[in-house]
Amino acid sequence: MTRKILVTSALPYANGPIHLGHLVEYIQTDIWVRFQRLQGNACWYVCADDAHGTPIMLKARELGITPEALIEQVGKAHRQDFAGFNIGFDNYYTTHSSENREFAELIYTRLRDGGWIDRQTITQAYDAHEGMFLPDRYIKGTCPRCHASDQYGDNCEACGASYSPDELVNPVSVISGEAPVEKASEHYFFRLQDFEPMLREWAASEGLQDEVANKLQEWFDAGLRAWDISRDAPYFGFEIPDAPGKYFYVWLDAPIGYMASFKDLCNRQGMDFDQWWGQDSTAELYHFIGKDIVYFHALFWPAMLSGAGFRTPTRVCAHGFLTVDGAKMSKSRGTFIMADTYLRHLNPEYLRYYFAAKLGNGVHDIDLSLEDFTQRVNADLVGKLVNIASRCAGFIHKRFDGQLGPRLDAPDLFRHTSAHAQSIALLYEQREYARVIREVMALADEANQYIDEKKPWVLAKDPDQADAVHTVCTTGINLFRLLMLYLKPVLPDTAAAAEEFLNTAPMDWSDAGQPLLDHQLNAFKPLVTRVDPAAIEAMVSESRDNLKPT
Ligand code: 2FM
Ligand code: ZN
Repeated sequence: MTRKILVTSALPYANGPIHLGHLVEYIQTDIWVRFQRLQGNACWYVCADDAHGTPIMLKARELGITPEALIEQVGKAHRQDFAGFNIGFDNYYTTHSSENREFAELIYTRLRDGGWIDRQTITQAYDAHEGMFLPDRYIKGTCPRCHASDQYGDNCEACGASYSPDELVNPVSVISGEAPVEKASEHYFFRLQDFEPMLREWAASEGLQDEVANKLQEWFDAGLRAWDISRDAPYFGFEIPDAPGKYFYVWLDAPIGYMASFKDLCNRQGMDFDQWWGQDSTAELYHFIGKDIVYFHALFWPAMLSGAGFRTPTRVCAHGFLTVDGAKMSKSRGTFIMADTYLRHLNPEYLRYYFAAKLGNGVHDIDLSLEDFTQRVNADLVGKLVNIASRCAGFIHKRFDGQLGPRLDAPDLFRHTSAHAQSIALLYEQREYARVIREVMALADEANQYIDEKKPWVLAKDPDQADAVHTVCTTGINLFRLLMLYLKPVLPDTAAAAEEFLNTAPMDWSDAGQPLLDHQLNAFKPLVTRVDPAAIEAMVSESRDNLKPT
């Protein structure tokens, strides 16, 4: 039965460029979506820029432009970066949209009418010079624990202590440099605690990752508390309908941006939004996110949806962070690599392949070792996968006018490789991409061994063995075709080039069953070239140069 699946990746903030750390998630999600489509499922993939909040407001101010101009500019760059990595969104929208405003207002109003919004006056650090309340990250001072100076208002980078900003010694506003004062203001709170039974049930039924389930359990044990969903002006966001001068906190309308982006798609495609988001929806809803934002997606978000009468997510799929060469990405080491910098030097398929080879369905961090990246791509893609085709294509073209033969030489090997379609599909479904890659590369080894044993280059010297050369090479090309199909979610460009060479329509999973026989091929071009270590060096050095003031 075809499934109806809506998939999202987290919405990147519209105040900075996409870097390789972000791409772990978009590549992970895109592979899953492409796999679902190859299975014949109706799978839609939406995303958007996360356009609201204090950092965006301040960044625009710093640049001397409006927030609208900033998010427009950043949005363009994000779209370009994602396109460069072949991230196949069906829609890429923005949270600063009329659809998002309507859904945010609707959800808020329903929650309020349900009795789940409280108002409470709280005091907070206030920059009297700037006339604004200060988020913790905008206050700096001396750590109350170790007395290191110049530490942020929420935690100390020197000793690792976390604290609240009023504990800082000699606090100053990062914006004006003045000492903040305490000021009272009324805030709006969403009564998350009222949703504990619903959330416990949701958590139990949805096959969450162990790590996420354990986190939820910790949060339940600690007791859920009301969530502050309002911010005072000046703020870049949506004003709360019945509260002039108060705005929805960016994290309220950000996940609603998933709905808004999908709504915009529905408007253009003539799809029925309620079939996907209504309470009785039979569609599946998957959110791919980083492990740092589980709290928002596994507590606030399902509670908001349920309180407002919408369906809840089928699953939240969290992943870990990216390290480069074993350490946090670092500007001075040149390992804080922007998406566009990468694209100026290297083929996006390499990174898609490397991340796939590292990704499982857990939340552990993954490491991009630049040395290992080079070796892995060269050994696997060039040395194993493409090698199968390049060893056989020449003979087919030179000896047989590019025509595949009428039969396979080793039907068992073909059948065995073809039978893996099932186990590989299961691994994709479970986001076990590293295991997919291992399985496919083991099959590639078998295919290469087969060719090694048959030695078509030796057979080709004997005119009596022409048929044998034809069947061996036909078998090799068919094995290559299967492996390319299995990697198609990971390597869409390479698969398209392979389809061109194979002279076939775009392959899908059902093509694994039948070999291509008596079939005309197109000319063979090298499908993947080796990673050039000089390109890696140039990329790292450009990333270091990005540091220099312009
Ligand atoms: O953490 C972040 O980068 C947020 N911009 C993610 C938002 S995801 C969703 F909730 F919108
Ligand atoms: Zn400290």
